[in-house]
This record gives sequence, C-alpha cells and structure tokens, in this order.
Amino acid sequence: MCGICGVVGHRPATPIIFEALRRLEYRGYDSAGIATLSENGVIDRRRAAGKLDNLETVLKQSPLSGSTGIGHTRWATHGAPTETNAHPHAAGQVAIVHNGIIENFAALKAELEAKGRRFVTETDSETVAHLLDNYIEQGMAPREAAFATIGRLEGAYAIAMIFQNHDGLLIGARHGAPLAVGYGEGEMFLGSDSLALAPLANRISYLEDGDWCELTREGATIFNAKGDTVQRQIQTIAFMAGQVGKDGYRHYMEKELHEHPVAIGQTLQRITDPASKRIALPDMPFDIAKVPRITITACGSAFYAGMVGRYWLESLARIPVEIDVASELRYRDPPQPDRGVALLISQSGETADTLGVLRSLKKAGQSIVSVLNVEHSTMGRESDLVLGMVAGPEISVASTKAFTAQLSVLAAFSIDFARARGKIDQAKEEALTSSLLDLPSRAAEVFACTPAIQAMAAVVAEARDVLYLGRGICTPIAYEGALKLKEISYIHAEAYAAGELKHGPISLIDRTVPVVAIVPSNILFEKTLSNLQEAKARGGRVLAFTDAAGAERLKGVAEHVVVLPDVDAFVVPILYAIPVQMLAYEVALLKGTDVDQPRNLAKSVTVE
Ligand code: F6R
Repeated sequence: MCGICGVVGHRPATPIIFEALRRLEYRGYDSAGIATLSENGVIDRRRAAGKLDNLETVLKQSPLSGSTGIGHTRWATHGAPTETNAHPHAAGQVAIVHNGIIENFAALKAELEAKGRRFVTETDSETVAHLLDNYIEQGMAPREAAFATIGRLEGAYAIAMIFQNHDGLLIGARHGAPLAVGYGEGEMFLGSDSLALAPLANRISYLEDGDWCELTREGATIFNAKGDTVQRQIQTIAFMAGQVGKDGYRHYMEKELHEHPVAIGQTLQRITDPASKRIALPDMPFDIAKVPRITITACGSAFYAGMVGRYWLESLARIPVEIDVASELRYRDPPQPDRGVALLISQSGETADTLGVLRSLKKAGQSIVSVLNVEHSTMGRESDLVLGMVAGPEISVASTKAFTAQLSVLAAFSIDFARARGKIDQAKEEALTSSLLDLPSRAAEVFACTPAIQAMAAVVAEARDVLYLGRGICTPIAYEGALKLKEISYIHAEAYAAGELKHGPISLIDRTVPVVAIVPSNILFEKTLSNLQEAKARGGRVLAFTDAAGAERLKGVAEHVVVLPDVDAFVVPILYAIPVQMLAYEVALLKGTDVDQPRNLAKSVTVE
C-alpha cells in the first residue's frame, strides 16, 4: 500500500524524504511526490507518475528547498496513477500525504464543494487537504484544525500534514494504517514503517489506532482520539545497513531467494533449545491439551503456508483445523469454540484483511497467535502471542524467504502441539526436529539446481497458460508456484490438487499448456504419477520437481526434471517451495518484467 513519510529537521528535507521513499517504494510505485516548506514559509511540491526515478528527474530539473516536508509513494485506490492524482495533495495553506481509504470522502467532498472549494483530483485523499484547509481558513491553529479534520474522517488512514508559515511543524495521524515516529538529534520523522525510519532514527514510537501527533524539531507530542496527551513506548530498533541493499544481486527477489537457508536457520535457532535440540517455543497463553480447534487465516502466500500448517497440525497433533483466506473468513462469521485458538500468518503484520480477522476472532474469545516477520507491527501488538520468524526485511514485492520462514515456525508449532497433546513419542519428535534442523544445509544445496530450473523456465516462458499440480502437503506448494509465476511473469497459471485434474482442468491440456508438478517420492507419488501420465497422454508437457528416486520413475513422463536433495517427507514442502519460486524468477528474467515491483501490486496491503 502507499508509503508516507515526513521530516522536521535542520538539513535539506528533500534528500532525506527521497531516500525514505526509496525504502517505502515496495508499498506502491504508481506515482510519488514530495512537498516542503520553503524558507519563505510557502508550500512547494513536486510529483511524478510512475516510479521514483521519474520523481528524481523532476527534482533534478526543479529542486525543492526547506527542512520541513512530507513524501508519498502511491498504490492507487481512488483515481488513476497520474501526476494530478499523485500525493502530496495541497489546498490553500496545507499539504498532506495519505495512506488508506477515506470511506466518507464523497459526502465530505460534496459538503466542501458546496462551500465553493474546487477539487482537481479523482482521489479520496484530496478531501483531507480541503477539510484541513477549511478549518485553517476558519481561523483554527494547525493542531486544532488537524484534530477537527481527523474527527470527521471515516475509513483507514495514516496522514502527514504540513502548514504554510509553520516551518518546523509536522502533524501525523493514524487510524487503521501504520505510522511510526522517529526520534533524531534535533530532527523528527514520520514513516509508514521502521524500514523507512531506521537509518534516520534508531528510536521509534508506533502510534496506536486513533493516535495523532505533533512533531517539532525538539520532539513529539502524542494525543489519543479524545485529544488527551498520551505516552507511547520508545523502542530502540537495531538496523544493519546491509539488510536493505541488493548486495550485488540483480534484484531483491534474487537476493531474498538466496537468503532462504539463512531465514530458515535463524528462525529455527530462535525457537530451538541449543542444549537439548528440542523445539522450545514460548509458553502458549492457553492449555494446548484443551484446545478444541485451531482457525488458520492469512492472505496470498502466507495463506498457502497456512494450508501446509493445517496438514501438519491435523496429521501430527490430531487437532481439527479450520482454514480460510482472511478476506472470506472475516465475513463468514463461522461459530467459534470455547478455548479455540486463531493462528494468523503475515510477513508484514499489517495486511488489512488478516488484521480484520484478528480483531473479530479476538472479540469471539479466541486466543490469538500470530506468525509474523515484523513483530512490532499492528498484528504483533494486538496478538496474545507472537511467534516471530527471523527472515529479515523482505523488500521484493513477491514474498520468498518469509514463506519458508513461516513454514519453519508452523512446523515447530505443530511439533510443539503434537508433543503437548501426547500424539508423538520422543523418538518421533527427535526425528521430526532433526529433519527440520537439517533444512538450512539442504536448502543451500537447492541453488545447484539453477541450470535445470533455467531449462524448465525456457519452456514456461513460451507458454500463455501453465498448470501447477501437487498432492497432499505439496498442493499448497503448487498454489505458491502458480501465484509467484502470475505475479512476476504475468503468465496465467492455475494450481490444482493433482487428483482434481480429471474432474475438469484436464480439458485445458495440450502441447501449449505445460504442467509443472511438485512430486517428491512420498506416499502419494504413484497417484500423482498416474495424473501426470493422464496429462502426457493428452499431449501435455510435464515439468517436474522431484528427488533422485522420483526422477528415475518419471523417465519417459517428464520432459524436464529438477532433482532436489532427499529430505524427510515432513520438511518436503519447505524445501520444494524454494525451486518453485526460483522457477518464477527465472521465467520473469526471460520475460524481462519488473521483478521486484510487478505491475499493479504492492506489498503490505493495508486496504480491504
Ligand atoms: C505473494 C505475496 C502476497 C502476500 C500477501 C500477504 O508473493 O507476497 O500474496 O503473501 O499479500 O501479505 P502478508 O504476509 O504481509 O500478510
């Protein structure tokens, strides 16, 4: 979603804001803009449609001065991604940037238009600028006008505001979209996330829903929705500059694919007792033995991780699991059992659909456990327990290492549940744990398969449609493969449980529709092999991810085979996710698409 930032400082604001926007660009890249207060107290702004590079060109031709300013990188909701619709929006004596959706903008706009105000954009956000300026025009001071404005807004927002003739003043507000305050030396910052702020300030406060704040060079005053002054904890954020560079890789996605072994390893290290080599998750805020059901929810790739988690929890811990994508679960309102547990999975911890379910399941009395990469995110703060992954910042819009880190946590969670419910003995527990702890080394071996993946990619890149097949615990990995291919190569792909092929999708198959199979030699191998033979008999070109034994038996069926290291069946989905994502990356390279910032997408989707 959109990224916003702001600064009140003692040095030129534009370069600081521009670099912060670079770090926020993953949240949206349809257009971008910056507004500053020039030395004579007048607001000046520069905006450009498209990526930040376009804004950079505009700024070179026409620089901005001043040490107070705001910036925005946009993922369009209302209005096309044009320069006119780009933020910051200005009206009279104010300029604002906004992330979120103002749901009552039409009514507010009509009211303001009736007062003679002229709107020039198609956005909901411009309403905020006019409303604010309307109050300033009525004689209110900035703080008063900001409070009056946010009191009228419905929907989700993180907003930063600057005011003509008020150098050194920045006001921010948060409701349903993240906003953090960064504390510098004689300068203060606002940003959508800690990534934007981290190189600028290592002390950060996260605003809570309904909070708003006034920043001056000297510090921050934070208010709650009632307008009372409140204190919010200041956290020290560790930041390593190398974490947000490409480190010589062509794309963030390539770098992050290569970080799979480290992400899995660090995550497991965090949740394993080094002495006993047993899984040692934090104490659960409920009695595991008495949990009647777990409800898993998430969106996109995180949801596919949850699907794998369901297999593990059902088969190992013998616990019933309900699972649905968050955008559906939120409005289905299924009955919730007493003592039930909700397991939410999210890289960002800010996804609006998942957060909405978190809040409704909390209201329904469920204990909330979240599997998060950004632990201090909104979901982290609202959960009863956070199981953190240690994947490090994920910048590429398409999720990679966070997925295997999520799976690693879910695998450990399943072992923990199975042990606590007496469903596995010590020998089984040790075998499962040791296969998990062995994974980082096996994952590192996957990169030796790059040439075979590239050969497969050459076939996929020629296709207009691709079918992904898996069975059992590998079905979610087929979904993940199809999603990643669609996202970054723009090739249409669908995933099916292989057994479903004959119930419909088989009619799609001919030589032009490759079939990508996730087919380790596990107990379902024979069944999947039959499904692949059915595809081949109809002219389909079979491309398979398998192991050495599987490769032998796929001779004559599969045209291309990627032979993966042998691992225990338990951890197969984690290992196989890596080459499946690598295939999408290699295809995207061949297609020449914008790998890290694919069209129409954004990371951290904070609108419904
Ligand atoms: C796919 C992808 C998305 C996210 C989804 C959930 O590559 O990145 O499908 O997985 O938007 O995001 P989080 O995990 O941040 O809740």
